[in-house]
Amino acid sequence: MSTGFNTRAIHAGQSPDPTTGAVIPALYQSTTYAQDGIGGLRNGYEYGRGTNPTRDALQEQLAALEGGRHAFSFSSGLAAEDSLIRALLVPGDHIVLGNDAYGGTYRLINRVLSPWGITNAAVDMSDSAALQAAIAGGNTKMVWLETPSNPMMKISDIAAIAEAAHSAGALLVVDNTFASPYLQQPLALGADIVVHSTTKYIGGHSDAVGGAVILNDDAAAEKLGFIQFAVGAVSAPMEAWLTTRGLKTLGVRMDRHSANAMAVATWLLDQPAVESVLYPGLKDHPGHDLAKAQMKDFGGMVSVSFKGGEAAARKVAESTKVFTLAESLGGVESLMNYPAEMTHASVKGTELAVPENLLRLSVGIEDLEDLIADLEQALGQL
Ligand SMILES: Cc1ncc(COP(=O)(O)O)c(C=O)c1O
Repeated sequence: MSTGFNTRAIHAGQSPDPTTGAVIPALYQSTTYAQDGIGGLRNGYEYGRGTNPTRDALQEQLAALEGGRHAFSFSSGLAAEDSLIRALLVPGDHIVLGNDAYGGTYRLINRVLSPWGITNAAVDMSDSAALQAAIAGGNTKMVWLETPSNPMMKISDIAAIAEAAHSAGALLVVDNTFASPYLQQPLALGADIVVHSTTKYIGGHSDAVGGAVILNDDAAAEKLGFIQFAVGAVSAPMEAWLTTRGLKTLGVRMDRHSANAMAVATWLLDQPAVESVLYPGLKDHPGHDLAKAQMKDFGGMVSVSFKGGEAAARKVAESTKVFTLAESLGGVESLMNYPAEMTHASVKGTELAVPENLLRLSVGIEDLEDLIADLEQALGQL
């Protein structure tokens, strides 16, 4: 039976326990499994780094929601990215990534993987000529895209970039962390692989660090499954269980995040201290029409820059009471981030550096009036 997104979120990988009927699958906090005679495994379970039923339940749920055949969950988003790249690339291969990719992704590719022979180029993904030029070299094996991007909220055309990547013999990887599978389905748009920091919207409650890779290709999945097992950056059972629980409400949370973010972005636009508001839901955002076409709604992330420069951004960041000044995003609570020194400190001084008058808001699902009142009092301190 084909089912809708929310039904899949609640039921995929979540059948009642066959022996007890428990509606919620158990948290299998076990490192190993009894064997019925040497090699007599029950349902293939042997050792916790290799397989765990709680992790399997999460992986099934993730695959069902991204519309992929295979899903693998990891101990963090960066662990997922590292495992993916090492599974599919070899020394000499080239990655082209967006020039406003998450700073940690750039650091992984540029500082950890480049000494092992993986080269990279960072380009503006919304500039198709720049992308074509960057992938033309012949050894580009992977194009790495974030849309909406972090924190500049640029929107890129997944279907067009998939075509460009494929014509150069490269795979397109989409980091779908900002949108979540509820708002955007990259595999259906032509991407080969989706990655997530499940720490964010997928988990949704800021209580479990994790990452995931979802893909269709069986041979690539086999290589990634081997790296997951052989390197071992797997999700712990408790984290997998919490992520599964959070993921069930993704649809209702994203609807509310999107509605609150749209209202906050619209309110910010009218404030005299504000220089610009970056939110794809706003009609004058350069990626508005594209976002409308490839996303169900515009999500919960808003970036805002201030006329008063760095000092104004810092003052607002340190004055809110409902918005918590913290790294990360995608939880039910609203967070405020100063990317230049927080999430994107690792790219300071590089071509990926972000403006110093910019704040990134992860708009939560609290009451909208309280969020606006909080921003009003914080901007009032300027
Ligand atoms: C878009 C994006 N991708 C990947 C990551 C890395 O995920 P993690 O922090 O779970 O390793 C982050 C973390 O902030 C992110 O924002």
